[in-house]
Amino acid sequence: MVEQTFLMVKPDAVQRNLIGEIVTRFERKGFKLVAAKLMTISEPLAKQHYQEHDGKPFFDSLVSFITSGPVFAMVWEGEQVISVSRKMMGKTNPQDAEIGSIRGDFGIVTHRNIIHGSDSPESAEREISLFFEKDEILTYEKNI
Ligand code: CMP
Repeated sequence: MVEQTFLMVKPDAVQRNLIGEIVTRFERKGFKLVAAKLMTISEPLAKQHYQEHDGKPFFDSLVSFITSGPVFAMVWEGEQVISVSRKMMGKTNPQDAEIGSIRGDFGIVTHRNIIHGSDSPESAEREISLFFEKDEILTYEKNI
């Protein structure tokens, strides 16, 4: 089933010049980029985005990290893009992530784990609408 997901290059990866590398992986896989922006996340948006982690010991440091510098927020579209992109990202803790996955190749620790991706159709819908207006998400033909 063709679906959409929210992916975000986190501040650590933007600092390390990994935006292009990460975008390239999803392009080469064959997914379609339908929205993207470089932005700095406000504290209220960070708290909303990570609301399921509110109350956990790492919540405050997660919010301060994700607001610490620009992120590259994206919407990608394609067959099973939610689960396939999570495979491409690798496990949350980069030390457990397979070599060959994005976190496995570029990350070392959980709190600097390079990329965020929606984990279900419900979170994809919620996260896309938090970060993008409807008219920022493009519809276009991609034939290859
Ligand atoms: P992400 O996929 O963005 O979703 C929640 C984030 O919390 C996760 O990636 C990690 O970057 C971050 N995090 C920090 N500490 C922990 C932890 N101990 N367990 C899980 N996630 C953590």
